[in-house]
Amino acid sequence: MDTAGPIGQFQARPGILDLGWGHPLPELLPVAEWSRAGAEAARAYGWQALAYGHATGPGPLLDWLAAHLGRLEDGGTTPAQTFVTAGASHALSLVAGVLAEPGDAVLVDSPTYHLAFPVLADRGVELVRAPADEDGVDPAETGELIRSLRAAGRRVPLLYLVPTFANPTGRSLPGERRRALVEVAGRCGVTVVEDDTYREMVYEGEAPASLWRLSGGEQVVRIGSFAKTVAPGLRLGWINATPALVRRLAALGYVDSGGGVNHTAAVTMAVFGAGGAYGRHVARIRGHYRQQRDELVRALREHAPGLSVACPAGGWFLWLRLPAGMRADRLLPAAERHGTSFVAGPRFYAGGRGGADRVRLSFSHLPPGDLLLPVPDAPPPGHRPSRPRSRKAPRPWPPPARSDAGSRDSPVPPPASGRGGPWFPCSPPSAGRC
Ligand SMILES: Cc1ncc(COP(=O)(O)O)c(C=O)c1O
Repeated sequence: MDTAGPIGQFQARPGILDLGWGHPLPELLPVAEWSRAGAEAARAYGWQALAYGHATGPGPLLDWLAAHLGRLEDGGTTPAQTFVTAGASHALSLVAGVLAEPGDAVLVDSPTYHLAFPVLADRGVELVRAPADEDGVDPAETGELIRSLRAAGRRVPLLYLVPTFANPTGRSLPGERRRALVEVAGRCGVTVVEDDTYREMVYEGEAPASLWRLSGGEQVVRIGSFAKTVAPGLRLGWINATPALVRRLAALGYVDSGGGVNHTAAVTMAVFGAGGAYGRHVARIRGHYRQQRDELVRALREHAPGLSVACPAGGWFLWLRLPAGMRADRLLPAAERHGTSFVAGPRFYAGGRGGADRVRLSFSHLPPGDLLLPVPDAPPPGHRPSRPRSRKAPRPWPPPARSDAGSRDSPVPPPASGRGGPWFPCSPPSAGRC
């Protein structure tokens, strides 16, 4: 269908193998299954699928979601603790809107999901880094920080983190820290906002118990999304919170005026979930993303032995420490000149302070063949010279792309010296090169 303007957010940059974007692989989006669910929802609910929706979300979705989340974690979530949103970003914006005030100190993990920063900043709060190490947020030191901020007269209503298969690190907060963090939050009266977006993107073992479940539904607000498990274009997600907070959200003016959020997509999601399509789809894409993760990890270990590459048990990202002396922000333009891209570490630290020697690579958005990386001596027949070469002949790949660098959810370096060279420099480049 011809169109005058762009349709999607992503815009491919010719010549760049972009490992910066935390977007799904286009061919894993469930176009046919979703359209069947839409038709079934129209049959089952008729005009009610197109009317204004119930304030907290349509009953069939609340019921299915509570049961589904309960199955993932052995019980614990009810429809009364659930509020349907336009995705996790909207959920965060809503929670900040009702629980924080302009000028408040809001604690954020370091590193953490970089696009949460502007969502929180929209509320006029100051972002303060919670003390953290390689394992994630340090509960005891965070408690100390809260006390000292309060002693200085600050309000500290919220702590935001992605404790499970985190963006950008792929790591999960260890069990004892989870329990300690819930305990500190209870003692200090701070609400933990647990961004649980990647819980179902698990490739080995099981996802750890959520902070939400450990807290018994108090002191923790969990935000979730169907953006990774089904499709980001749905803009559909949820909040788990106390029934009192759910009622507060339901009483917001725009809900009173316009009804529950994204009602028609929510009703379709209820059919997609309850009819079994969701379970089949998530099982299928999990296998694909596991393979994509494996390909990128294998390529890095083979061609960049100077890097230590951890293989995350879930999520969509690899988080790499660059060799001593190399800085991500200087490497990025050099990498892009060689045809590949990534997101530099400082973007994941509030205020950009930290992560100078880190890069985030996403394995979600490119097919495994493009993640094999190095370079044959001669380009294969049909090779598009503008894209980096892989061992396999390039296959057609739909290049929808992105529109603004600021919204990329977020690249990797190139042959250091042309054909056959290492795809990632194994030793620090000279100061001049980066
Ligand atoms: C940790 C995290 N939270 C939230 C989002 C955005 O979710 P949504 O599209 O549902 O707003 C992302 C997307 O990359 C993410 O990685």
